[in-house]
Order: sequence, then C-alpha cells, then structure tokens
Amino acid sequence: MHFKNKIVWITGASSGIGKELAVQLAKQNAILILTSTTTSALENLASELSCKTHVLPYNLLEVDGIASLVDTAMQLEGKIDFVIQSAGISQRSLADQTSMEVYKKLMDINYFAPVALTQSILPYFKKQNSGSMTVISSIAGLIGFPLRSGYCASKHAIKGYLETLQCEFYKTNIHICLVYPGRIDTPISRNALVGNGSQFGTTDENNQVGMHVSVCAEKILKGISNNKKSVLILKAERFLFWLWWFSPSLYYKIAHNKGLK
Ligand SMILES: NC(=O)c1ccc[n+]([C@@H]2O[C@H](COP(=O)([O-])OP(=O)(O)OC[C@H]3O[C@@H](n4cnc5c(N)ncnc54)[C@H](OP(=O)(O)O)[C@@H]3O)[C@@H](O)[C@H]2O)c1
Repeated sequence: MHFKNKIVWITGASSGIGKELAVQLAKQNAILILTSTTTSALENLASELSCKTHVLPYNLLEVDGIASLVDTAMQLEGKIDFVIQSAGISQRSLADQTSMEVYKKLMDINYFAPVALTQSILPYFKKQNSGSMTVISSIAGLIGFPLRSGYCASKHAIKGYLETLQCEFYKTNIHICLVYPGRIDTPISRNALVGNGSQFGTTDENNQVGMHVSVCAEKILKGISNNKKSVLILKAERFLFWLWWFSPSLYYKIAHNKGLK
C-alpha cells in the first residue's frame, strides 16, 4: 500500500496505461488527479473508482498553458506526491512522407508537454522537499523503428531531458523515473498520426500481441515505489534491443523487414 493517501496526478488517464494505473492506484486508496482531453471518459473512470478523485481535463498540446494547469492541480489538495505522465501519441508513417506539422505535434505532446509540466512542478517539489516524477517513454526512446521517426525522436528527447534531471537532482528527495515499455495491448495505434496529420484509426496487431496493460501498470508502480530511475517493460522486444546493441546491422535488417510489413 505504498500509495495509500498519496496524491497522484496521472496524465493520459482516459485510456490504456494511464487508465490502468488509475484503477490500480485506486485499489491502494491513493487520491487521484486525472488529466486528458476527453472529459467524459475521465468522469466515467472517476465514477468507477472507489478512491477520492479529481477530474482535470486539459489538452496538453497547449504547452503554453501547462504552467497554470500545474498551479491548478497543486491547489486541488495543496500538495502532489507523484506525477505519472502517460499522455502520448504514436505515429504510423514513413519518415519521408511525414509532414513537419506531424513532427511538431509529436514533439509537443511527447516532449515539450512533459518538459513544461516538469519545469512547472519542480519548484513545488523543491518547496515540499519531496516528489516523484515519472514519464512513460518507450523502447522507441532507446532505438529507432520503422514508421515512427517523429515518435522515436520525441521519446529519445524526453529521455535526454529526464536523465539530465536524474543527475542534477541525485542528492535530493525528488525522484525521476523513465519507463520504457515495449508493445502493450492498448488502443494507442488508433490515435497514432499518419504523414498528413490524420489518425491511423485502427488497432495495430503489433499492440494486440503485446503485454497485458495490467501487467505493465503493475511493473510501473513497483518501479516507482522502489525509486527506480528506469523501468524496462519488455517481452520479445528485449531480443531486438540486445540485437541493436551487439549486432546493429542485423537489427536494421530485421527492423526493416518486420516494421514495414
Ligand atoms: N501501448 C504501447 O504499446 C506503448 C509502448 C510504449 C510506450 N507507450 C507510451 O505509453 C503512454 C500511454 O500510451 P497508451 O498505450 O496508454 O495509449 P492510449 O491508450 O492511446 O492513451 C493515450 C492517452 O494520452 C492522452 N492524450 C493524447 N493526446 C493528449 C493531449 N493532447 N492532451 C492530453 N492527453 C492526451 C489520451 O487521452 P485523450 O484522448 O482523452 O486526450 C489517452 O488518455 C504513451 O506515452 C505512449 O507513447 C505505449
């Protein structure tokens, strides 16, 4: 019951990993703040949870407003113990057929939004002399993969930013955790962007064969409870990562064949 009576703010709480984290944290009697763009989905979720819950809808693509969103979130309970940033958008398009608007949108949601939220909450964490910040990156934040040029870039970028914070805050009571899931069975591909900025719209079979979202959420919460700096949540992707490290040319060949199918 690590999270009992702790105030946990989850972005991307309306679906997939963020939603499952909310379900599991509710069972531990955490106090939740739930954010995404879809108010109705957040309200439905809140009504199903047995813990105290605040619904705080926000479109994180509006990066300039995130500082005041953080102020609002802080005022709800006067304190935040844990932030888990799960909001994100994926991509399904070849690099040379992807518009700059799509690259910018992916960077806004997967990189600039979590940076803005982190920058705004750190002063509060310093004042509290405590706080835990987790961002869900991806195995795509460690290695490149076809059809995900902008997604991979944004997830690599957030790794660079947060690893730097891990160095700078090393001797403090502020904990930063990066999570690197492989394929998780969530609806992520439906909202993934294609080259012209429209949505992919269907569920990718790659995700359907992925890890069950409840197992993924359990591993994330265990990692956060143990103040882990990084949490790898991989099944078969572990082999791809190993290959990338030891035999890059073979990795590129396999990624080309598998990823472009
Ligand atoms: N599923 C996987 O295989 C996988 C693998 C590696 C990493 N990840 C990462 O895990 C995180 C969660 O993904 P998921 O699989 O749970 O996907 P998901 O089911 O599509 O959930 C994405 C969440 O992000 C929210 N979101 C999207 N755009 C937003 C915006 N502009 N403002 C606020 N919230 C926004 C969505 O809510 P609304 O639509 O209501 O706004 C939704 O709650 C993402 O960062 C993703 O990159 C997923």
